[in-house]
Amino acid sequence: MKKIALITSGGDAPGMNACIRAVVKSCLGKGIVPIGYSDGYTGMIENRFTNLVSDDVVNIIQRGGTILGTARNDEFKTKAGRAHAIKNLKSERIDGFICIGGDGSFRGASALSNEMNIPVIAIPGTIDNDIFGTERTIGFDTAMNTVVDAVDKIKDTAGSHHRIFLVEVMGRDAGFIALETAIASGAASVLIPEERSNIELLAKDLKSQNKRRSNSIVIVAEGDDAGGVKDIYEKLLPLLEGYTLRYSILGHVQRGGRPSAFDRILATRMGVYAVDLLLEGKSEVMIGSIGDSLHTLPISKTINNTAVPRLENLKVIKALKTVK
Ligand code: F6P
Repeated sequence: MKKIALITSGGDAPGMNACIRAVVKSCLGKGIVPIGYSDGYTGMIENRFTNLVSDDVVNIIQRGGTILGTARNDEFKTKAGRAHAIKNLKSERIDGFICIGGDGSFRGASALSNEMNIPVIAIPGTIDNDIFGTERTIGFDTAMNTVVDAVDKIKDTAGSHHRIFLVEVMGRDAGFIALETAIASGAASVLIPEERSNIELLAKDLKSQNKRRSNSIVIVAEGDDAGGVKDIYEKLLPLLEGYTLRYSILGHVQRGGRPSAFDRILATRMGVYAVDLLLEGKSEVMIGSIGDSLHTLPISKTINNTAVPRLENLKVIKALKTVK
């Protein structure tokens, strides 16, 4: 193994830089040349890359985003698109590939591995935490802390004005961020795509918890079946006469910022492990974390299964409902 290609792909996530740093330093320590392709698969197709050296990764462990850039690339989903990338990887004599991203990126990595016969290691990096085979993805912990910090602030104003607030958090297909942050921020209720939402019941619930019109927070995952917070707000208004409602969409602020200590550690451990796995001759596996340990599972298993948040946590939120 002499040259390893590295990309970050899909939505960026805090901790990706820590992972890049770990891969690069680990490669250099083992006499391997790390090649960073820019903007995910787009850079691979367009042959835009850098031979990464120590100086490239100085002082990046604490930075959000990704120094390599990232993209969602539709061309790479086609065999013709991947053929461009394969040509470029072959001419550069790349003999291993590490992909940091989500399951869409892993599908591309797996196809590339089969068509080019190159060993591939996948590292889960997305704030959504929606990847099967790992309890935590790089970026999720930081995003949760960003949400909790924002909701704490919203609670100050909600409490002062005795308002109900709907707060929309990211999670197009999954409710991990919503469910966990609802607990951490003491929310009255949570709406997630994995559970059918009932707006009448939510209104009844909010009234019973909120007789004196004090503050309540409802966390809503952006992918909820009842719609976004604006739709839910409009549906709730006629059902909550006498109450004041507001909504807030946290948006892309959740994707940025300094990675938490947890994400830096997870990302660093996964980066070092990925290089070791390539040197051991492993391929087509994703690194997952269960408890405090890292393990591997076939990429095919992770892309063919759906990660589900801990639904028993809905009971935790229900158990804490106070009827005033
Ligand atoms: O990174 C995942 C995610 O944050 C989703 O939760 C969200 O729906 C999506 O990315 C939005 O991404 P973009 O604005 O880059 O299309």
